[in-house]
Amino acid sequence: MSKKLRIGIIGSGGIAQGCHMRGYATMPDLCEMVAVCDVNEKIAQEAADKFSVGKVYTDYKQMLADGVVDAVSVATPNKFHKDPTIDALKAGVHVLCEKPLAMNAAEAKEMCVAARESGKILQVALQSRFSGPGRFMKSYIEQGNMGDIYFARAQALRRRGVPHWGVFIDKEKQGGGPLIDIGVHILDFTLFLMGYPKPVSASGKTWDMMGKNPELTNNFGEYDRAKFTVEDFAVGLIKFDNGAVVSLESSFMANQQENDIMKTQLFGTKAGASVRIWGDDPIEIYTEKDKQLFDMKPKNIPHVESAHTAEVVAFVNAILDGKESPVPGLNGLILNAIFDALYKSSETGREELVDVSF
Ligand SMILES: NC(=O)c1ccc[n+]([C@@H]2O[C@H](COP(=O)([O-])OP(=O)(O)OC[C@H]3O[C@@H](n4cnc5c(N)ncnc54)[C@H](O)[C@@H]3O)[C@@H](O)[C@H]2O)c1
Repeated sequence: MSKKLRIGIIGSGGIAQGCHMRGYATMPDLCEMVAVCDVNEKIAQEAADKFSVGKVYTDYKQMLADGVVDAVSVATPNKFHKDPTIDALKAGVHVLCEKPLAMNAAEAKEMCVAARESGKILQVALQSRFSGPGRFMKSYIEQGNMGDIYFARAQALRRRGVPHWGVFIDKEKQGGGPLIDIGVHILDFTLFLMGYPKPVSASGKTWDMMGKNPELTNNFGEYDRAKFTVEDFAVGLIKFDNGAVVSLESSFMANQQENDIMKTQLFGTKAGASVRIWGDDPIEIYTEKDKQLFDMKPKNIPHVESAHTAEVVAFVNAILDGKESPVPGLNGLILNAIFDALYKSSETGREELVDVSF
């Protein structure tokens, strides 16, 4: 393809400038950022200036109507993922949409239907699987080294890590707290390694006993306790149609030893593994040979400079090569449907069904 892919950005705040635009900027031969949109014109202009982008919009519909883009990143708060994504797909534009795909499964289904009908790529921005540990573990598992993975313990736990920027503590704009915001990363990572089994039911519990408390400190800086409308801690148990089970823990605030845990533990019939998405020696593997137990630390984990850039590169390459979405909308729908069931279960006190049909 001789013509460069024309890229637009919808929502040009933190993640757009820090990750998406930096990612596209690494591929000047394949794509060109031609338009930036943000309801806040100052932020749009700032992003355009930083990355030398020609067109600035405050209304994404105008950007789509002008026909200036072939693909967009949607990097708005969660409440504003659905409409730009569907409108872009309907305009024949490929979409890389930030995580979580939507506020809930109903919205995610609409987005998946729009992708199916348009034939364009809908990729969910879940970068952890592009990390070095993600690549190593996926290939290790695919070679059969772990046997059947029947249980995983996924943890995205911050000790005092309430985001004070953006709208992350506003349930109305985000759909939830740590579960939907950071739990989404470790759950996606875990399910990716397990081959994305189909969830059938889930039970969970959320609490908001610390995030509203003005007496407690926050490592990320001050925030308005009165605006804290999300949970601060969530747990869940998710059952899958292949018999596997995943337990999930996620917090913005919790009294624990470490500041920030982003880790999954996999239990397979041939081996188990403890996998962190970042840090030194992120993987430990536990296995047995000739009745001897072994703990192993792989030392040649692929080096990935930025998983965010890798996901953007995968998006552009999938479009140019006419391939499937590297992180399909269905994965985002599955995650949203699990979160819906966990939030509902916390209210009803019962195990809830997870419906991912669309
Ligand atoms: N993948 C990751 O690791 C990661 C990290 C951070 C944030 N995120 C996700 O990225 C999204 C944005 O988060 P952020 O930290 O960049 O927030 P942010 O507040 O820094 O940026 C969001 C921007 O969207 C703009 N916006 C809001 N509604 C809009 C609309 N209708 N049209 C155009 N622009 C609009 C806002 O003015 C703001 O500038 C969220 O969904 C969040 O979950 C992902």
